[in-house]
Amino acid sequence: MDNDSERPYDETEHARRAGSFGSHAEAYAEYRPSYPETAVRWALEPVAGEDVVRVLDLAAGTGKLTEVVARLDAEVVAVEPDPEMLAELRRRLPDVPTHLGSAEEIPVPDGSFDAVVVGQAFHWFDVDRALPEIARVLRPGGVVAALWNLEDDAVSWIAGLKEVSESSLPSARKWRDQRGFPDHPAYSDSEVAEFQHRQRRTTDSMVALVGTHSQVIVKDEVDRAQLLARIRGYLRARTETASGEFDVPMITGVLRAIRV
Ligand SMILES: C[S@@+](CC[C@H](N)C(=O)[O-])C[C@H]1O[C@@H](n2cnc3c(N)ncnc32)[C@H](O)[C@@H]1O
Repeated sequence: MDNDSERPYDETEHARRAGSFGSHAEAYAEYRPSYPETAVRWALEPVAGEDVVRVLDLAAGTGKLTEVVARLDAEVVAVEPDPEMLAELRRRLPDVPTHLGSAEEIPVPDGSFDAVVVGQAFHWFDVDRALPEIARVLRPGGVVAALWNLEDDAVSWIAGLKEVSESSLPSARKWRDQRGFPDHPAYSDSEVAEFQHRQRRTTDSMVALVGTHSQVIVKDEVDRAQLLARIRGYLRARTETASGEFDVPMITGVLRAIRV
């Protein structure tokens, strides 16, 4: 659902890409989009009545989602397995408590959170281990929510860009085909919502964004440079993006389920 998988599943490639982000942590923090507050509010709505909502941002990366949760006055803790991503988060959000850890082994006590949120990362988890582990750290009635920022490829220049990018752009259409958490007895059925937003970009920042996608990070230098040059050429040739700044139409897709 991220920048993935029109190819057959390859476990080694999956692990290599899941662990690739740290080498581009600074660019990630600079160029990846944030999440609309409305989407995060919807994710947390089932636990919104609490005096203090305790939220775990799992796979927090450089803190894109952490920062939005913190703005909503929730008490947020970030967990992330990549030391370089976590270092970037700590630099940007020094007041947020953090732990090195993964979705399969979350270093916090049982029942200690009202909500677990996951931004752009649920597809990296070993779900057979992660779903019970997330259930362990949630209190009964707590919520797990997964969010994805997706370029809206119903728009023709985005669909074209996706083709040129060799699928490295997250696809709203593909997300709609796949959405729903896998069934698990610890959770209610999934609920789904979508939120529209826009990102202001230039050719340079759009190319830099694509350069932070795992599928592009793991390419060798020559292939990577060629791909990014093709994207730059495409953006310069399209009327929608040829001159100066432009808006990228985005959809934030959210799944949530209640810990029963
Ligand atoms: C695309 S980034 C998303 C970061 C952040 N949540 C955001 O919204 O920008 C994916 C993150 O998932 C982390 N990750 C990969 N495999 C993981 C796992 N098994 N458990 C927890 N985090 C994982 C990576 O280190 C990376 O920081």
